[in-house]
Amino acid sequence: MTYPLSPVLTGLAQYPFARLDAWRAEATAKGLAVIDFGVGDPREVTPSFIRDALAAGITEVSSYPRAAGLPPLRAAIGDWINHRFGVTVDADREIVPTLGSKEAIFSFAQVVTGERRVIAVPEPGYPVYERGALFAGAAIQPVPLRKSTGWLPDLDAITNWDQLAAFWVCYPNNPTGAIAPLSFYEELAGKAAEHGFILCSDEAYSELWFDEPPVSALQVSDRSHVAVFNTLSKRSSMTGYRSGFVCASEPIANALRTYRPSVGTAPQEFVQRASVSAWRDESHVVDIREVYRRKRATLLPALEAAGMRLAGSDATFFLWLAVDGSSEAYARQLLESGLLVAPGAFFGPAGEGYVRIALVPTQEECERAAEILREVS
Ligand SMILES: Cc1ncc(COP(=O)(O)O)c(C=O)c1O
Repeated sequence: MTYPLSPVLTGLAQYPFARLDAWRAEATAKGLAVIDFGVGDPREVTPSFIRDALAAGITEVSSYPRAAGLPPLRAAIGDWINHRFGVTVDADREIVPTLGSKEAIFSFAQVVTGERRVIAVPEPGYPVYERGALFAGAAIQPVPLRKSTGWLPDLDAITNWDQLAAFWVCYPNNPTGAIAPLSFYEELAGKAAEHGFILCSDEAYSELWFDEPPVSALQVSDRSHVAVFNTLSKRSSMTGYRSGFVCASEPIANALRTYRPSVGTAPQEFVQRASVSAWRDESHVVDIREVYRRKRATLLPALEAAGMRLAGSDATFFLWLAVDGSSEAYARQLLESGLLVAPGAFFGPAGEGYVRIALVPTQEECERAAEILREVS
């Protein structure tokens, strides 16, 4: 029997992280106690004041949330952008709350793909930029990230600026942990304004840093063609709440407000109320940075002693490590010892030769993993 399935769907490889779930199930079935450094889903506690705000936000009567989001949430996000990046945005016109950032990243291609059909995506990279573009009928232009250029795209190698609808970047970067300087965003935002495409900046990890707070694409001098995507998922350990935002110039934000009611993707209002308290507090974010710093200090020396070599990782909770041989074979080998990591090849061919370790298990688990690594090295 045949079914009328989208050829994009049937042609797609399995979502890489679904493969990691299958690996973990296999290892668990063999009796291994797996420590999961695969998917970037923090195992940290969501601060209690946020959970309380969620409970207090539940109303007796429930209504459909509106695409524009609640004014206090837009205001809280606008204030956060102002305190964090020194940029003033018009919260009512330029901010659109989203259900986490993944859905907004995925569907953005549907908002911008028209006569211009090419979407540039970093490789290695988060798979959603490409998947969203494919479902929108766009053509993908992979933009390689290399260690030699600090994991930044080589903008001089791009020749078809006038064909681009959007250009995705992600700093602090998943999977490499690299940071981008403001000059990079300035250059790309300048190209976007000159050639009429949208610079899409995925800043999901902007708050997980070790030395200096990373800059945002919102800080460029001309942000007319810039759309920034951010989220509470990593900053506030709220992956399950699904709460993020897009901040973009008014015409882009208007397009989103026109598109999104058709899809029905607006965060639940009790989640929006909890999100107000999360964006308005920084102390829990200071604490969470310390948590990741400690895990990194616990694990990195043991990983290096086992022969892996740090190859980026200036920020985020990812360690991006060069390994010998195939990244998938290397990850499989580590799994024999109960450590689940993501092979770099899962992020595109340019990720081959690396593995990504998400520092999301608990501190205790990281200590146990360090012991295991010392035993096997
Ligand atoms: C680079 C990057 N962007 C965006 C997201 C989406 O996060 P969320 O939908 O939880 O906001 C993730 C999640 O892992 C990510 O790694």
